[in-house]
Amino acid sequence: MQLQMAKKKKEKKIVAASPRLEGTGIAVPNEATEATSRYPDVYFMHKTGAMADWERLGDRRILFRGAQDASLLVEVYSPEVIRFRYAVSAPFSQEPSYALIEPDQEERVLFEIKEAGNFITISTGKLKCKIAKIDLQLQIYDAESGQLLLEEAVPFSARSTIMNGLEYLKVSLRARTGEKYLGLGDKTCPMDLRGHALQNWNTDSFGYQKDTDPLYRSIPFYYSLYKGKAYGLFLHSSWKTHFDFDATGAGVTAFWTEGGEMDYFFIYGPELTAVNRRYMDLTGKPELAPLWALGFHQCRWSYYPESRVRELAAEFRERSIPCDAVYLDIDYMDGYRCFTWNKDYFPDPKKLIADLKKDGFQTVVMIDPGIRVDPDYEVYKSGTEQDVFCRRPSGEVMTGPVWPSKCVFPDYTDPRVRAWWADQYEEMYADQEVSGFWNDMNEPAVFKVNHLTFPDHVLHHYEGFGADHRKAHNIYGQQMSRATYEGLKKHQPEKRPFVLTRATFSGGQRYAALWTGDNIASWEHLRLANIQCQRLSISGFSFVGTDIGGFVDVPAGELLVRWLQLAVFHPVFRIHSMGNNVDGASEAEAEMVQEAERLNRLDQEPWAFGDPFTDQARTAIEFRYILLPYIYTYFQRASTLGDPMLKPLSFFDQTDQEALKRESEFIFGDHLLVCPILKPGTKTITTYLPKGEWYDFHRATPFIGGQKVRLRTRPDRLPVLVRAGSVIPTYPVQQYTDELEIHHVGLRAYFGSLDESLWYVDAGEGYDYREGGYRLASFSTVATEKGFLIRQEVTGDFQPTATAYRIKLFGMPFDALSLKVDGAETHFSQLPLKVLVVEIPLDFGEMEVLF
Ligand code: GLC
Repeated sequence: MQLQMAKKKKEKKIVAASPRLEGTGIAVPNEATEATSRYPDVYFMHKTGAMADWERLGDRRILFRGAQDASLLVEVYSPEVIRFRYAVSAPFSQEPSYALIEPDQEERVLFEIKEAGNFITISTGKLKCKIAKIDLQLQIYDAESGQLLLEEAVPFSARSTIMNGLEYLKVSLRARTGEKYLGLGDKTCPMDLRGHALQNWNTDSFGYQKDTDPLYRSIPFYYSLYKGKAYGLFLHSSWKTHFDFDATGAGVTAFWTEGGEMDYFFIYGPELTAVNRRYMDLTGKPELAPLWALGFHQCRWSYYPESRVRELAAEFRERSIPCDAVYLDIDYMDGYRCFTWNKDYFPDPKKLIADLKKDGFQTVVMIDPGIRVDPDYEVYKSGTEQDVFCRRPSGEVMTGPVWPSKCVFPDYTDPRVRAWWADQYEEMYADQEVSGFWNDMNEPAVFKVNHLTFPDHVLHHYEGFGADHRKAHNIYGQQMSRATYEGLKKHQPEKRPFVLTRATFSGGQRYAALWTGDNIASWEHLRLANIQCQRLSISGFSFVGTDIGGFVDVPAGELLVRWLQLAVFHPVFRIHSMGNNVDGASEAEAEMVQEAERLNRLDQEPWAFGDPFTDQARTAIEFRYILLPYIYTYFQRASTLGDPMLKPLSFFDQTDQEALKRESEFIFGDHLLVCPILKPGTKTITTYLPKGEWYDFHRATPFIGGQKVRLRTRPDRLPVLVRAGSVIPTYPVQQYTDELEIHHVGLRAYFGSLDESLWYVDAGEGYDYREGGYRLASFSTVATEKGFLIRQEVTGDFQPTATAYRIKLFGMPFDALSLKVDGAETHFSQLPLKVLVVEIPLDFGEMEVLF
């Protein structure tokens, strides 16, 4: 049985499609045709040609009409952000965007346009954009230093055929020697994208590999870094998009979209962090999550019946392994009917959920977009009555197999359908009190066909503008998670929604957290998990995680522990595995799965591999709860400023050549450097420390940055370093996030000088924080030969339960003579290795240690 299953799993692996440019490939150029002959297809090339004229439209737009059939619309968003749009033989589209947030008001931007010689120059103060009159080719310069930032290699071009219409619209840029490319979402290739050709087309990628492309989601946004200056490029297109980062080595980076307009934003930094903030200002930030969502979550395909769920929850508490949420995968449903319960397995879901909640567990359940065709099923009936399902051009409703053998699919691009979908959540969310929803298969995935998704001809409402699936495909999952998010907001407006989605698009960070899909229990996948989460985090999605331990296959105990230790620093911290299930299995195969489960459960809970792994797993999860105030603080930064929670070292110092090459260690928040262990049996690792002074987080051993250091490893934790001068807030270990009334908040302060360390706290749920119900403490530190000073400034009105800090001071170079808090002598203890411990009131202003 096991063998058969394994074989089946392998067969289901997806083969990566290679990027293609030439549409049908058999079209002949129009110039080579004769009026009286017939051809498979005929193509036409489109260009702007020379500038015919230009016109300023309103405050921010300038239209350049081409002498040929394409025109260019330039829109200055800010001194650093300029949008470039090309349309072929058509007016520019007025459609709303699924990626961009609507600004409250269009800001007026001051810029100058000058026509001189062969160029028109647009100057914003920060940028100079030169447009050649002869072909509308672009060059963009840093206004201050004159450094050339972006240069088109050839003018914009597009191609259409008689049979297909527009096939691509393409921009080609010079790729300079030494220019690096970062970002682009969930790609698994090395951190520097240079040398890779990639595409965006949301794809169900069960058991993906390091070269599989495309994957589940589309985030057509990348960073260029050249000579210390960074800009971002956001290709604002929901169509299939392609990026060729100088894959052939010819010195050209090109990107193209398979339809619509060419529409991209140039987003200047020059710091990578500034590019990120500007991109987040355009596409939106994640809402602050409920605190429990940052605890540890346990998942499996599937925990059922109810007794098994109760047994699981009890085992966490018996073993004192912290856990905040359990997930119910598709088998909780009645025959894979979304929004229903299998009454044999779950006779009283409301009671189960309430009992779990009493014990500190939130329940998260799976909801798929495929709605079972069944005239007796309420969701299908009301959806049919209200005409919410996608149709083919003939008017026929599109059906296809996913978990049920015949499904229909809501058209989430229609606001009316989103409202209908939102209401489906009412009973489960408001009455049964499910805490969160997990939206899956929303690429959208369709079983059995090679195409893996809807046919291209399926129609979508697209906010009233109409589109076929080629244009709506990449935003389908994003709009599903939006409709879910809106449903949760509507039916429990006082609660912060928790939605986890598999597919999404740029801007989807406003609605849902992400996990990276169906990975494999291998060390290679641990490496990929590390790259994917860093890359997603700088692509707008900080709220990310992977299936810890791997979804396909079973990890060794050591691999599960190393994965948990890394995932302490992934905001979504969830074990998930497929058990004995078979991807794409029909309902008829369900019995076979049940039998396999009975014979061998393939468990992946933190205790599944016995000693010493259970203790090590517990230590890892406990560390997450110890760091919870730090993690929540940086979530709050991500939701207000848009800053990535995980940052590759290049985001710490973009001028450091060695940092630019590293892709294993990363910065978490602003102060921690995490060094994942990605190989079995690792006894020592070499890690690179960027500039500055660092300490080992646990033992406070000091290190000087700007060099590689060799560190001895331990089985029970990863090497984590902390910047000198940091003040890191900690909580005691809890079995779930609001188990204890916390009286003392820990602060770990490391000798050194730093302008800012933060601790943010609020109620952990609800929206009082928007009315001042939060407390943000900002610490600054000054270290001298005479002493060590910590200052605190506080904003916000929230009163935490804690009244005092228990401070540990590490790395003191001398014995302390005295310690003053706001001028008053205060008692402290001196531990070995010059560690000082002191308890002081939460509202202190200044604390000073004198040597
Ligand atoms: C998909 C999901 C996986 C889930 C399974 C069954 O493969 O990616 O997480 O367990 O479907 O619902």
